Amino acid sequence: MVKSWSPESWRHLPVRQVPDYPDPAALAVVEGKLRSYPPLVFAGEARNLKKALAEVAAGKAFLLQGGDCAESFAEFHPNNIRDTFRAILQMAVVLTFAASCPVVKVGRMAGQFAKPRSAPTEELGGVTLPSYRGDIVNGMDFTAESRQPDPARLLQAYGQAAATLNLLRAFAQGGYADLHEVHRWNMGFVTSPQTERYRDLAARIEESLNFMAACGITSETTPSLRQTDFYTSHEALLLGYEQAMTREDSTQGGWYDTSAHMLWMGERTRDLDGAHIEFLRGIRNPIGCKVGPGANPADLIRLIDVLNPDNEAGRLTLISRMGHDQVEAKLPALVRAVTREGRKVVWSCDPMHGNTIKSGTGFKTRPFDRILAEVRGFFAVHQAEGSYAGGIHIEMTGQNVTECIGGAMDVSDAQLADRYHTHCDPRLNASQALELAFLVAEGLKAERLGQPLAAAS
Ligand code: PEP
Ligand code: CO
Repeated sequence: MVKSWSPESWRHLPVRQVPDYPDPAALAVVEGKLRSYPPLVFAGEARNLKKALAEVAAGKAFLLQGGDCAESFAEFHPNNIRDTFRAILQMAVVLTFAASCPVVKVGRMAGQFAKPRSAPTEELGGVTLPSYRGDIVNGMDFTAESRQPDPARLLQAYGQAAATLNLLRAFAQGGYADLHEVHRWNMGFVTSPQTERYRDLAARIEESLNFMAACGITSETTPSLRQTDFYTSHEALLLGYEQAMTREDSTQGGWYDTSAHMLWMGERTRDLDGAHIEFLRGIRNPIGCKVGPGANPADLIRLIDVLNPDNEAGRLTLISRMGHDQVEAKLPALVRAVTREGRKVVWSCDPMHGNTIKSGTGFKTRPFDRILAEVRGFFAVHQAEGSYAGGIHIEMTGQNVTECIGGAMDVSDAQLADRYHTHCDPRLNASQALELAFLVAEGLKAERLGQPLAAAS
């Protein structure tokens, strides 16, 4: 028997990662306000994304999901939004060309504020304070005042998400996403000696664009060349906020979480009898679930049973985040179980969260070569299992930050301090992200042609 569901039914279950609000009545007032605010996305858009992801599940498209680990109030600036959007488009062009298939673009943007933490408190110099849980909950400064969860932050996060989404929509539809422009940016990237090895692929894209132009297919004649579909996503962690944004679709019925097109469940909150799975099972958006090295095949199938009981293609994306040294050992059994049971899922690879280390200079960082190694391992596993490696999920920014070490520009341990701005995990900078796209492009091409993957360099 299927248990009944409502937007608040999660409240009867154990909830992980909940902030300790000093004034629950004040929180309830804010959540009530949010319930009366306009939805940020429309149910029909979430359905369109689900359709696009169904194409990914069928091996006919590729998913690119990326953006900040944690959006912050401090970094809220049109240039940051523009530059991350631009970097995602640049990556998408490279991937589209390599895979000869549509790339579904989903930002970790316009709502990615709440962060799960490994411990509820943090100790520094003998002082213990609540952990930072993302700007939607509390502040990053290590003071008692800043670390106190504040409900007013929910409203600020909503406002920032709305303004960010508004700008993204304008960029996506207003001409900024013109394919020729994006390609020109990519040509800029391959001019340095360090990126020379990608020049050949960029030149082939150029040739194709010239050929199309000669056939009369230009941005002027073909609107789809100057516009793009761009979707938003974040981790559905702070369930009070998500519940307040959940509305019944007035056109076709069903509940949608209108805070983003796609929501995902994190590695720390995906227990089968917990509140997060309860909330996510009832909304009709496309959803994701992180899958780490501790997952076992039987539990994964049970989780799929709950989240996608009708085996609807595009509904569920499994985002594996195993670590470069575990992906080839842990992923095959999960893929085999899903294939054996005939479950329609998108398999996506998050090569970030299993590859975080502490650098010699004390920063949380991720070596670019390990990120790449996990992506390669992910492709190799799917190739060996006869399944489809459908996407990548990365933490990145359009800014020239120094948070992950390595890459063509070779960010060193000593350079991490120069521009380390993240509010949580280390992100790829714009050129590292684009380089990853060029390198993934090689894997995608091999996958399409059924060729063996090139050995890791
Ligand atoms: C994240 O995506 O920022 C995150 C916390 O990931 P995970 O749940 O996989 O650890
Ligand atoms: Co993160």
